[in-house]
Amino acid sequence: MNTPRRVEHQLTDKGYVPVYTTAVVEQPWGDYTATDHEVWATLFKRQREILPGRASKEFLAQQEVMGMSADRIPKFDDLNPVLRKATGWELIGVEGLLPELTFFEHLANRRFPVTWWIRKPDQLDYLSEPDLFHDLFGHVPLLMNPVFADYMAAYGRGGVKAHGIGPEALVNLTRLYWYTVEFGLIKEDDGLRIYGSGIVSSKSESIHCLESKAPNRIGFDLERIMRTRYRIDTFQKTYFVIDSYEQLMEATGPDFTPIYERLGQVDSFPAGSVQPGDQVFNRGTGEGWLDDGDV
Ligand code: PHE
Ligand code: CO
Repeated sequence: MNTPRRVEHQLTDKGYVPVYTTAVVEQPWGDYTATDHEVWATLFKRQREILPGRASKEFLAQQEVMGMSADRIPKFDDLNPVLRKATGWELIGVEGLLPELTFFEHLANRRFPVTWWIRKPDQLDYLSEPDLFHDLFGHVPLLMNPVFADYMAAYGRGGVKAHGIGPEALVNLTRLYWYTVEFGLIKEDDGLRIYGSGIVSSKSESIHCLESKAPNRIGFDLERIMRTRYRIDTFQKTYFVIDSYEQLMEATGPDFTPIYERLGQVDSFPAGSVQPGDQVFNRGTGEGWLDDGDV
């Protein structure tokens, strides 16, 4: 068995950045402390309290089917049989963010990397990198949905391809992941709901993305999204709304190569802009927005 190693940091021209091994590690379940389990329980209960009526029905239902509960940090080995049976996906333990190509290859093979360690009690509201709570609570439930599961695997294959095309293609593809998998909204019968993992694992953004007048809420449009910069340090200025998981799958079916070529000829859109042709659910007031900092 590999012994998981905590993150190290390395000084680069961008400051200290985390460095991780690319290794798959066994979840060191027996090493979680009482505090680790408490952090999980606190976050789990807090989100399950506010998410009904805000998160996608499918997300909430599948999380229960998987048997995740507040009691203790779930064991990947307990979730995996359920997940494999439903959609052929499995969870693998990792130290944290992986190099892009490694990440894409895992997804293409229906392996979802989950960070094994959980945040500290003073980081309940925010931390700048994915931890076990974000990855497991946020990403894993929708991998139980056959259509979304196929979308994630297709995204992995598309990532391997984009990686071969070049860095600009990867920028475009990463925006798609950001505005769907991480920060997506879905239109359900009763109104807009959250399916993006970056939102469901954050209490404040779960409320903000639906209830605030500040952000734009705009209908899903593949090329529009692939042109749009985003925020990594604040709430999103724009959320994109899908009609269904099938829509995601269908829109991303065609070969992206010509799209990458087209987008290479035009400027990107600012994170908070509204464009001609947008299907606008909410035109953001922009309240509280910082001017700089789109990536
Ligand atoms: N169709 C995309 C391509 O040709 C692959 C892809 C599928 C990307 C699903 C994202 C999501 O690159
Ligand atoms: Co994530």
